[in-house]
Amino acid sequence: MSGYLIRGVSVVGGEPTDLLVRDGVVAEVGPGLSAAGAERVDGAGLVALPGLVDLHTHLREPGREDAETVETGSRAAALGGYTAVCAMANTDPVADTAGVVEQVWRLGQQAGLVDVQPVGAVTVGLRGEQLAELGAMATSAARVRMFSDDGQCVWDARLMRRALEYVKAFDGVVAQHAEEPRLTAGAQMHEGEVSARLGLAGWPAVAEEAIIARDVLLAEHVLSRLHICHVSTAGSVEILRWAKARGIPVTAEVCPHHLLLTDELAASYDPVFKVNPPLRTADDVAALRAALAEGIIDVVATDHAPHAVEDKECEWAYARPGMVGLETALSIVLDTLGPDWPVIADRMSRTPARIAGLDEHGHTPAPGAPANLTLVDPAARWTVEPAALASRSRNTPYAGTEMRGRVVATFLRGVPTVLDGKAVR
Ligand code: DOR
Ligand code: ZN
Repeated sequence: MSGYLIRGVSVVGGEPTDLLVRDGVVAEVGPGLSAAGAERVDGAGLVALPGLVDLHTHLREPGREDAETVETGSRAAALGGYTAVCAMANTDPVADTAGVVEQVWRLGQQAGLVDVQPVGAVTVGLRGEQLAELGAMATSAARVRMFSDDGQCVWDARLMRRALEYVKAFDGVVAQHAEEPRLTAGAQMHEGEVSARLGLAGWPAVAEEAIIARDVLLAEHVLSRLHICHVSTAGSVEILRWAKARGIPVTAEVCPHHLLLTDELAASYDPVFKVNPPLRTADDVAALRAALAEGIIDVVATDHAPHAVEDKECEWAYARPGMVGLETALSIVLDTLGPDWPVIADRMSRTPARIAGLDEHGHTPAPGAPANLTLVDPAARWTVEPAALASRSRNTPYAGTEMRGRVVATFLRGVPTVLDGKAVR
């Protein structure tokens, strides 16, 4: 057997054609291909996309293997159509040294289901006091290019400036979790009408917007690449619009849950809806959707945040923030953006690959391109059953929700990681 012949598939929404995948690359594209020895895959009704790339995944290993491991998270990613994920640094120990990022990178290689690209911490222990060994992580086997204290904001402007300056040496990027901590102490949900009604301490939009405003000015000042994690407010969109119009090298991501869910859900007091930054208002959701379609927000990233049952199924105030998202992201983007495949391919693969510096990913299936791709059935409907997720954690806000669009197959360098909607291993 030599390779895969995918017949009658729409490449990023185009007319049906055939795709021959062989030796890790897309060997041929065109109608009526034949290839002796290749395994046939029926692509009728399916859309081929470049393998999805997630800039923001929490894999929890090392330290919280009870919530997720590199392997279980990689499997969830492959099932969601991803071929690469960026593993956030807020593990235990924190990924703030060459040793830890190499450990995560090796675990990813061993699992072999997606390319796991470790993100390095900006500061030692995510404490915001002292820069981590950014250079050592960049030159390690993991070749770290993205640095983030995600979960925590790099709130010290001087440290943020120095991190931005430092990463220029290796064309790195600093990904900021924008949250002015003095404005969110004790916060439980979005600050607004709903928080007032429920009597829960609020997380005001300005806490995000103030940091983004500061950091785009810093990025302009030192001319370095800045990325904003999980943008959640309409005001943030306006600051990004201004910054981009000025030519500031800033990119931004939005999470599927912020494209769909609102702060009204907190009224259920079900901690599955607790997330950081919090669910915002319907006006924010509308602004985020428009900004994603327009390109002011560059990418969709999941912020897949698995949590063990005891950390999530408890009183709202004590529950950890975060939701799993790898296996539902594409369906939600399809639902919120509509079947605009070139835009979906751009926001979920091409642009995230470029931001993360993952040269083998983000390529439209074409002769010679690395065969990192996913086949989607846009018409398939399925219902989210938490117990059926490949993630080790169950904290999905979509339990029982009907989704449209399902990943049928995912190929990593020409080797299937998912076939017939099931993980190959
Ligand atoms: O909801 C969140 N969960 N937001 C973060 O910034 C961190 C993440 C986590 O690690 O659980
Ligand atoms: Zn975050």
